[in-house]
Amino acid sequence: MKPLLRRPRRLRITPALRNLVRETQVCAADLILPLFVSENIASRTPVESMPGVAQLTVEEAAQEAAAAFEEGIQAVLLFGIPSEKDTQASGAYRSDGIVQRAIGAIKRAVPEMIVIGDVCLCEYMSHGHCGIAHFEGDRVTVLNDESLQLLAATAVSQAGAGADIVAPSDMMDGRVMAIREALDDAGFHNTAILSYAAKFASAFYGPFRDAAESVPLAGDRRTYQMDPANALEALRETQLDIDEAADLVMVKPGLAYLDILWRVKERFEMPTAVYHVSGEYAMLKAAAAKGWLDERAVTLEIMTAFKRAGADLIVTYAARDVARWLKQG
Ligand code: PBG
Repeated sequence: MKPLLRRPRRLRITPALRNLVRETQVCAADLILPLFVSENIASRTPVESMPGVAQLTVEEAAQEAAAAFEEGIQAVLLFGIPSEKDTQASGAYRSDGIVQRAIGAIKRAVPEMIVIGDVCLCEYMSHGHCGIAHFEGDRVTVLNDESLQLLAATAVSQAGAGADIVAPSDMMDGRVMAIREALDDAGFHNTAILSYAAKFASAFYGPFRDAAESVPLAGDRRTYQMDPANALEALRETQLDIDEAADLVMVKPGLAYLDILWRVKERFEMPTAVYHVSGEYAMLKAAAAKGWLDERAVTLEIMTAFKRAGADLIVTYAARDVARWLKQG
């Protein structure tokens, strides 16, 4: 019998050999930690559907950012829950809005922390949609061009408060250009734009809407977020955002959309982020709580899968756990 020449197992014999040939590494510097800052609470209020995640006061958000920075996390992504909502989302672009105050507090507490503002109107709109909405009976139309000005104002006010990056997640057409122009006009040439370029209308966002109190009162987001069935459209969406001056692009959700992530990275070779969304996090936490999955092993495997599929940056609610586990080795 001929000797077996190809033996891939040779390189798997010891941990050191496996380390030597490993193609993908996850590190804490790749992680972005989302934080929910609320104007309506006196102190930390856990989000039931997202164990380990809580709504925070401005002071608590600064403390959380400082603690995360100690663990190696270098970026946070801020969502705000305002005390009052209206039909113009005015809480989103007030200079003393909840996110603007949180940006300031975090920058004072940890100047090196990269602060990213989520630019969207849904948390600030009384109807919970991501843009200006027009109602006719139970039919909702979310107006595109009318919403751009409010999104741009939100981005400018976040930049004014000290945000390093603004991240539009609304999925209105033309918002990246509108935001870039408004930032430049206001003198914020160095504020980068991380666009949620391929954001799908996903049921995986369920727990987030509890956390951010942004459930649409009527209708859904399918007239602006993408159809989960469309991959080529995701490439066209991403191309548009790059043409409109996005500095970084994001694919969202993560796990069920790894094919999109891979294609976006291969095609555009841009700094690419993936969002490990609330539903993905909640599934994992629920199975772990039942003892059905090894939380640490599965979470690290998912993070590795994101990197392998092309992600440079990973937005995850598990960021602090991941950073701690990586340090433990
Ligand atoms: C705001 C926004 C959402 C998420 C991020 N920004 C909710 C939505 O679009 O309905 C979802 C994040 C998550 O599920 O973790 N538009």
